[in-house]
Amino acid sequence: MSAAAALKVLFVTPECAPWVKTGGLGDVSAALPAALAELGHDVRVLMPAYRSLAALAREGTQRVTLPADGVWPEAELVRVAQPGFSLWLLDCADLFGLAGGPYGDERGVDYASNAERFGFLSHVAARIASGATPWKDWQAEVLHANDWPTGLAAAYLRRMPPPRARSLFTIHNLAFQGNFPPDRQQVLDLPDAWMQVEGEGLLHWDRISMMKAALRHADVITTVSPTYAREIQEEALGFGMDGMLRARQADLHGILNGIDTRVWNPVSDPLIPARYGAGCLDDKAANKQALQVELGLAVSDHAPLFGIVSRLTDQKGIDLILDNLDWLLKQGAQLAVLGSGEPRYEKRLNVLAAELPSQVAVRTGFDEPLAHTIEAGADVFLMPSRFEPCGLNQMYSQAYGTLPVVRATGGLADSVRDASGPDGTGFVFQRDSAADLRETLMRVLRCYRQPALWRGLQQRAMAQRFGWAQSAERYVALYKGQARKA
Ligand code: ADP
Ligand code: GLC
Repeated sequence: MSAAAALKVLFVTPECAPWVKTGGLGDVSAALPAALAELGHDVRVLMPAYRSLAALAREGTQRVTLPADGVWPEAELVRVAQPGFSLWLLDCADLFGLAGGPYGDERGVDYASNAERFGFLSHVAARIASGATPWKDWQAEVLHANDWPTGLAAAYLRRMPPPRARSLFTIHNLAFQGNFPPDRQQVLDLPDAWMQVEGEGLLHWDRISMMKAALRHADVITTVSPTYAREIQEEALGFGMDGMLRARQADLHGILNGIDTRVWNPVSDPLIPARYGAGCLDDKAANKQALQVELGLAVSDHAPLFGIVSRLTDQKGIDLILDNLDWLLKQGAQLAVLGSGEPRYEKRLNVLAAELPSQVAVRTGFDEPLAHTIEAGADVFLMPSRFEPCGLNQMYSQAYGTLPVVRATGGLADSVRDASGPDGTGFVFQRDSAADLRETLMRVLRCYRQPALWRGLQQRAMAQRFGWAQSAERYVALYKGQARKA
């Protein structure tokens, strides 16, 4: 593409891998801007300079001061040198220098100042995307915001001086809405006209909703799979916002996430014990063995090894797995779990791991290398989500020849084909029920005992192309105002 056609895109996000990642948003916020840059676009990613990024911010190669303006504090934009897109950190120690994670303290409790913290991030994004830009030489043409922490950006942008960028908001998960008490109106600098449920209002029930702000005010709304785009317009998965999404149906697009094949590729992955590809699948076995050794599981080539890398929450259908676990272990299976979340799930899994250490291993906390080793070493990946906007692990699993078991929802339905068909790449079940999962697990075990059949499924899974190029093109079309439904 010629430089003249390059778009200037401000991509604002609360997390971006490898610097900050609590889930799939972190991966997408790195991979999509990189894919856009590869298409020739000029992308600036804006995220807060959290305390964990203090050293990175000190190495910044450029600084721009944003003066205080009566409502918002003084801050600095710091450019971090890195290839591809350009990364800018919003440095404001009072708001972002807190000890803990991006959203909460070390115990996982949300920060009391989250409304101000993410209101400020959104306000700065709107400032950059308008005639009030602090960069004289760079005027964003597109403001691309992601999930509730950046939900106010499109709303603030409407009140900024022209020229104003076109705004696009991506819903990564509608269940998290950033709803705050109405007494935050002043610190968020919200006009009275927005303090209502209807019209241009941001109130959801009696709370200020950052998600709703975006759904009301963004020019274009996207979500991360075509199926989820349909599901959120219905009551069951609309989390109270389905009516509004139906009303904006013409502006709502489902674009399937890709995966970053430079990071998630068994042929070149430096984080796995043994590299392999579709042509040398036998080498995958060394990863299984290494994983069993690392986790203290019995070393066995024959025991089907099931992997889980996940937030341990209701969304992910962990209870459906737990309801089947005693049975599955009696069939001789092994289970490797990496994840943390609800104490009741962690506890039950840890009890099983203590009782049957040769069959069940559980690691809590965030561990990127172990996540890669589980993807490479397991035979089967369990992801029976209750809902799943896109999901990345089922795609990583297919790339690694680790067959996913998924429920037909959201991006899982859009990226895995059931083994019963001629083009199967995994195992898909329909209903949110432990019995349906049980039937599917029985099918998995039957297939696993037929090596030629299993190998065929693995090869088809590995031949899938989940790269970002095509999806990035679809975002570009929307950036340019060329709406095209999938
Ligand atoms: P979600 O964003 O809903 O959690 P996704 O499937 O989109 O689900 O993305 C989850 C991402 O987070 C994947 O890259 C997965 O490997 C990673 N992940 C989840 N839990 C852990 C963990 N405990 N340690 C390392 N990586 C994890
Ligand atoms: C959210 C969703 C997940 C999706 C990710 C990246 O965290 O829960 O399904 O893959 O965002 O878009």
